[in-house]
Amino acid sequence: MARVNPNYSKLKAGYLFPEIGRRVRAYQVAHPEQKVIRMGIGDVVLPIPEAVRIAMHQAVDEVGTLSGFRGYGPDLGYDFLREAIAKEYVSRGAQVHADEIFVSDGSKCDTGNIQELFAFDATIALTDPVYPVYVDTNVMAGRTGELGDNGQYAGLEYLPMNAANGFVPPLPKTSPEVIYLCSPNNPTGTVMTRAELTEWVNYAQKNKSIILFDSAYEAYIQDPSLPRSIYEIPGARKVAIEFRSFSKTAGFTGIRCAYTVIPLELEGVGPDGAPVSMHALWNRRHGTKFNGVSYPVQRGAEAVFSPEGKEQVRAMVGYYLENARLMRNGLIEMGFEVFGGTNAPYIWLKTPQGVDSWAFFDKLLQSVQVVGTPGAGFGPSGEGYFRLSAFALRETVHEALSRMSTQFKKK
Ligand code: MLT
Repeated sequence: MARVNPNYSKLKAGYLFPEIGRRVRAYQVAHPEQKVIRMGIGDVVLPIPEAVRIAMHQAVDEVGTLSGFRGYGPDLGYDFLREAIAKEYVSRGAQVHADEIFVSDGSKCDTGNIQELFAFDATIALTDPVYPVYVDTNVMAGRTGELGDNGQYAGLEYLPMNAANGFVPPLPKTSPEVIYLCSPNNPTGTVMTRAELTEWVNYAQKNKSIILFDSAYEAYIQDPSLPRSIYEIPGARKVAIEFRSFSKTAGFTGIRCAYTVIPLELEGVGPDGAPVSMHALWNRRHGTKFNGVSYPVQRGAEAVFSPEGKEQVRAMVGYYLENARLMRNGLIEMGFEVFGGTNAPYIWLKTPQGVDSWAFFDKLLQSVQVVGTPGAGFGPSGEGYFRLSAFALRETVHEALSRMSTQFKKK
């Protein structure tokens, strides 16, 4: 019999969101009459912007003609999209060139696959709570030991984020080679300030670490003083890879398009001690394992940067942020301690005293049929917290708040 990758057996639970889906399905089977409200996985609900739809239609028509037909696209993405992305970065004060952009089918894949570029025994630091993809992919790759009773995998450095430190990750105690950061943060909905991010860039320069910076939710930053890209910070081009996505920005969770930026000057070190271009490695990996995103989808993504596209995206993001504002206010009125949700689409709330996050999940599901995400699913420091997603229709938000207010009343 073929021997399997033993590292998979270290993964003690299923992936978080399918696990939630499984529990909700079981509840629905037992209670088919109940209407469940889903605010667990951060999946968008509004249709794609009109400018995107029109551009995709045109592209489909184009490839239906002999002269407009396209086969395999360039591995790294069409120039028209890479150039539109670079122009947007530059307009916001971040130096990114079109040839440093790798177009892909999603940031989940990119943040999950990027670890392949690092040594088998590279040291890793990540925040806790954290987007589970960063942890699980390193476990699968064999870069960790077993899961301990403390909920942490041996061999990873966890950087705890909690109310006491304002959900700002402390600098590592070890000197990790690779550091995962996410801002606006999934799951806490908090955003790193320019000063905080500068501290991280300086740290990475001093320790020769590489920061993997996930900014999939950057479109939700409204406060102009907050950085939307790590490349707004001087020195970041030498220490950071950035991941961005059209999923939450422009409703692409089902369409699939994202991009990763690897500056040409970013280097790791090879087995002989010589510097190695990270851009060249990812280029090599992309060329071997990826055949690009479809032409109509890339044309749709390009339209996000057109004047109409930008306006429509602004409206869409504004809609979800208004949901988040209503949710924050409603939950505060119910007596919850609430974080995030002002420059991010996630609300992170403290569960009631003595109720752990899965118990709170069950209580909400059973009593008011509202689904959220238990904080413990994002790591041990997420215990005692709960995430609600603002990606919902307005009437759903009102309904969820009204149902919850029957159970939770400020004393
Ligand atoms: C989430 O709910 O955390 C996200 O939707 C997951 C993802 O983007 O893969």
